[in-house]
Amino acid sequence: MSAIKLNTQGIENYVTDTDLEIISDEIENAREMLVTGSGAGNDFLGWLKLPCVITDEERSAIVAEAERMAKMSDTVVVIGIGGSYLGTRAVVEALLDKDRKNRAADIVYAGHTMDPDYYARIMKRIENEDYSVIVISKSGTTTEPAIAFRLFRQHLEKKYGKEGAQRRIAVITDSQKGALHAIAETERYPQFIIPDSVGGRFSVLTPVGLLPIAVAGYDIANLLAGAKEMQYECANNKRLEDNPALMYAALRNLLYRKGYKVEVLTSFKYGLRYFSEWWKQLYGESEGKNGKGILPCSMNFTTDLHSLGQYMQDGERMVFETMISVEQSNNEFAVPNDSENVDGLNYIADKTLTYVNNNALRGTREAHLAGGVPVIGMEIPRLDERMLGQMIYFFEYSCAISGYTLGVNPFNQPGVEAYKTNMFKLLGKPGF
Ligand code: PA5
Repeated sequence: MSAIKLNTQGIENYVTDTDLEIISDEIENAREMLVTGSGAGNDFLGWLKLPCVITDEERSAIVAEAERMAKMSDTVVVIGIGGSYLGTRAVVEALLDKDRKNRAADIVYAGHTMDPDYYARIMKRIENEDYSVIVISKSGTTTEPAIAFRLFRQHLEKKYGKEGAQRRIAVITDSQKGALHAIAETERYPQFIIPDSVGGRFSVLTPVGLLPIAVAGYDIANLLAGAKEMQYECANNKRLEDNPALMYAALRNLLYRKGYKVEVLTSFKYGLRYFSEWWKQLYGESEGKNGKGILPCSMNFTTDLHSLGQYMQDGERMVFETMISVEQSNNEFAVPNDSENVDGLNYIADKTLTYVNNNALRGTREAHLAGGVPVIGMEIPRLDERMLGQMIYFFEYSCAISGYTLGVNPFNQPGVEAYKTNMFKLLGKPGF
């Protein structure tokens, strides 16, 4: 059963029932295209059924490898970029403040930047630690992770010798193609496969996300169980009014048509910062094409209420907001009582930070709605593996529906080649 609830109170000032009636046929067409595989990009629909096609054996193999790596490592360097990076980070950062398995390793990320200062920082950290590497690239040829893998492979071989390094590397890539697959075959590194039918930004529920998330000590069975619940929910509720994922796709398309070209995903949970990064890639790469698409941005509140909050409240009225609220926290503090009360805070003495934070959220929501920002509320009871599984599937499903409703192929990303071609020319890559 889905625990994600949409709160559309106040949206009626921006989107009418008639608007919803008009778009409901388009949403139904998009849903039909998705479930029958008759739309553009239909060779990339493997993610739709991922939560229920993964077998117990496949999951156990991932957990076994994760335990093997974590046992011999203080840190695991996870190398990848874009869809081969953001899903893991979204989940791991969201769960950092929650209990995890004892035998877990810390994760550091690489391959998502080419800044040498960043690599110097990681090298310094792992100098006195035991570490292993998971390298992830579907194509097996992406420049940023390929450079990082060279750096860490050589570092590992220096530190542990060739055989020692071999035990400390796991590869996640295509089953047949790409340089990474070739290296893994030659060096006999353990390999996990990204299915052909699952594109990078839809791949977090494959080994791409599951292996590093398990290494970090989190329960991938529960993550998959949550995703499966949402998969059934989305498959069984075909009507707009019964299915929050369809409703979200409908509202964002209607708002876009009314001139709200920027969507800001906001939340008051610190741990969701990287979930927003994953979401931005999912929607930005899926929809921003053919001169169309909502620009996905994110803000973390209340931090950003003291910076971009000014723009949200008072700047150009082209922004709508999707506000994630999480009811409970994994930890708690109360505001201490102070007999002197010089700071005047005793009016909230003994109140929990969750209580204060949730009231900040309510106040912000009302202020934004009144200030001309349409707000779609998304309510979640807590942050754990199951909820994150639901959230991942929810946003993936909505994204596909939203992209088809917008009239684009949500599963390609032709635009990302332009910088690569120029960079390769400048670097003198053969053939460019
Ligand atoms: O969503 C996508 O397909 C991209 O963001 C890719 O994940 C990203 O470019 C990394 O590609 P690869 O896994 O082939 O290295």
